[in-house]
Parts: sequence; C-alpha cells; structure tokens
Amino acid sequence: MCQKMIQQFLKEAVMNRQSILGTFAVAVLFSVVFTSCKKEEHQYHTVIDKIEAESQNYQGTSISSDQYLSEINLIEITEGDHTFLIPERKSQIKSFECNECHSKPIEELKGEGHGQKAHWDLTLIHANKSTMNCATCHDGSNMDELKSLTGVKIDFNNSYNLCSQCHSKELDDWKGGAHGKRMESWAPPRASLTCVDCHNPHDPSFDSRWPSRFNTQTEEERK
Ligand code: HEC
Ligand code: HEC
Ligand code: HEC
Ligand code: HEC
Repeated sequence: MCQKMIQQFLKEAVMNRQSILGTFAVAVLFSVVFTSCKKEEHQYHTVIDKIEAESQNYQGTSISSDQYLSEINLIEITEGDHTFLIPERKSQIKSFECNECHSKPIEELKGEGHGQKAHWDLTLIHANKSTMNCATCHDGSNMDELKSLTGVKIDFNNSYNLCSQCHSKELDDWKGGAHGKRMESWAPPRASLTCVDCHNPHDPSFDSRWPSRFNTQTEEERK
C-alpha cells in the first residue's frame, strides 16, 4: 500500500515538474509517507502486546510432561493467576517430624542434651543476627509448622510463603517463571522447583560465579 502511494506521488511530481511548490509538496508528502510506513512496522507498543497478539491462535500442545513427573511427589499450588506443581518437602526433611523430639519446650530439651547440640550441623547465615533467629521462622510451640512474622502457621510444603514475606520481588518472578527452574520439561503440566529446593533457608546466598574465560596471562606463564 505504501508503494502504491509513493508511485502516485511520483506521478504527481512528474506532472508538476515546473512548479517549485509542487516539488516542495512532494518532499513533504514523501516524509509523511515515510513515517507512516515506519509506524506499520511498529504496530505493537510493547513486547507483551506483541506476544499476546501473536499467541491468540496458539492451540496448546499435544505433548505432555506427565511421563517425566510421575515418579516425583508433587503438590499443586495456586498463586494469583498461576497454578502449578512444586515438589513436596516434608518427606525430604531428615528430621521431620520435629515433634517426635519437640514435645516439650526448648529450654527443657536443652537441659537434657548433656552438652551435645541436637542441630550441630546447622548454622544460621541469613539476615543480620540481631533481626533473625530460629524463632523468626520456626514455631517453638509447634515445631512441625513454620510461622509467619505475624504468627500465622505456614506448612513446610508451602515454605515459599515464608520467604515471600521478605523477598516479594523474587516471589513474583518465581510465580511467572523468571526466577527458579522448570522441572523435567517445558510441556504442560508446569512443575517448578520451590525456593528451598535451591536455597538452604539457613544459608541461602550463593557465591557469585564468573564465566570462565581464556586467561592470556596464565598461558604466558606456562610457556
Ligand atoms: C532427634 C530429636 C530432634 C528432632 C527430630 C528435631 N529436633 Fe530440634 N532440637 C532438639 C533438641 C534436643 C534441641 C535443644 C537444643 C539442643 O540440644 O541443641 C532442639 C532445638 C531446636 C531449636 C532451637 C535451637 C536454639 O538454638 O535455640 C529449633 C529452632 C529446632 N530444634 C527446630 C527443629 C525443627 C524445625 C525440627 C524438624 C524439622 C527439629 N528441630 C527436629 C532435638 C530435635
Ligand atoms: C528464614 C527462615 C528460617 C530460619 C531463620 C531458620 N529456619 Fe530452620 N528451616 C526453615 C525452613 C523453610 C525449613 C525447611 C527446609 C526444607 O524444606 O528443606 C527449615 C528446616 C529446619 C530443620 C530441618 C532440617 C533438616 O534437613 O532436617 C531444622 C532442624 C531447623 N530448620 C532448625 C533451625 C534452627 C535450629 C534455626 C536457628 C539456628 C533455624 N532453623 C532457623 C526456615 C528457617
Ligand atoms: C524475615 C525476613 C526474611 C525471611 C522470612 C527470609 N529472608 Fe532471605 N533475607 C532476608 C534479609 C534481611 C537478607 C539479607 C539482605 C539481603 O542480602 O538482601 C536475606 C538474604 C537472602 C538471600 C541472599 C541474598 C543475596 O543477595 O545473596 C537469599 C537467597 C534469601 N534471603 C532467600 C530466602 C529464602 C529462600 C527464604 C525462605 C526460606 C528467605 N530468604 C526468608 C530476609 C528474609
Ligand atoms: C532453581 C533454583 C532456584 C529457585 C527455585 C529459587 N532460586 Fe533464588 N536464586 C537462585 C540462584 C542461582 C540465585 C543467584 C543468582 C545470582 O547470583 O545472580 C538466586 C538468587 C536469589 C536471591 C538474591 C537476589 C537475586 O535476585 O540475585 C533471592 C533473595 C532469592 N534468590 C530468593 C528466592 C525465593 C524467595 C525463591 C522462591 C520463591 C527462589 N529464590 C527460588 C536459584 C533459585
């Protein structure tokens, strides 16, 4: 359509060859046509608009991840617009159920320890020590449940609700699939690793890793 318009203008230009005004008009029209052609290329305002428009005709896929997921113990969760599967945790936690030992207050348990620490293999390296301790997340009166900062019970299987209190940005990214990792395959149903599958809640930070690259200096020294 742009091409047709341009041809039209060229025709007009030839007819008005004599007129300076005509040439000027052609120049103006050309620039108008040029910018309007450009607009057609960029008919989407954002990438999201483009994805949404162009996926209108998507009919889904006939393949499924079911065969890869059948061996894994998963639970279904719904967070906002997103419903997906995450691995069940309680059966993976070595010292669950906690209340097998935590049937009485911690102070009493501490007296029975004969100097040995029950959770000796566990050091808390998370937020500042003055703001976070075991009781920030664990419920001393019922160890089998986690608890929120306001004292609401959180199931060990849904511990992402615990993390999300302080890391809401990562939770949003995770819900949408931008933080964390899909399990097994991209095909539905969606199963994603949960926070504690990757982060140890007691020491969640990862060391930064730099991409390895060819080091000319070391190579020089080897010679
Ligand atoms: C085999 C027995 C046993 C099991 C199982 C157990 N604990 Fe404990 N836990 C203890 C004892 C004993 C203490 C008292 C402190 C000590 O002796 O180290 C303790 C202390 C604690 C404390 C307080 C630590 C402190 O320094 O104040 C927390 C929190 C805790 N346990 C959480 C848990 C959670 C959560 C679970 C389950 C996932 C669990 N425990 C399972 C025996 C156990
Ligand atoms: C930031 C929250 C948080 C804090 C603080 C925290 N925990 Fe935990 N803890 C968790 C979560 C979440 C799990 C379950 C992890 C999982 O699903 O593997 C857990 C699991 C445990 C377990 C079971 C681990 C296992 O593999 O058997 C023990 C024992 C425990 N915590 C003790 C403690 C003690 C003692 C402290 C204080 C020194 C503490 N926790 C501080 C969140 C926390
Ligand atoms: C009560 C608030 C609170 C809760 C609950 C909490 N965190 Fe944190 N977390 C912090 C603070 C504060 C820091 C240290 C400040 C920072 O580095 O952003 C931190 C640091 C981290 C880091 C390291 C950040 C870095 O830059 O290296 C990770 C990863 C993390 N938390 C994951 C988790 C996970 C997973 C859970 C749930 C099991 C959780 N947090 C629960 C407050 C919290
Ligand atoms: C598949 C593994 C995986 C899962 C699942 C996962 N994370 Fe992470 N997370 C990472 C890695 C790896 C990094 C480090 C990224 C880096 O250093 O650039 C990270 C970084 C972070 C940080 C540090 C800040 C940042 O963005 O670099 C926080 C906080 C965090 N994660 C919280 C969470 C929470 C909360 C959840 C659950 C809602 C979660 N993560 C789920 C692997 C995971």
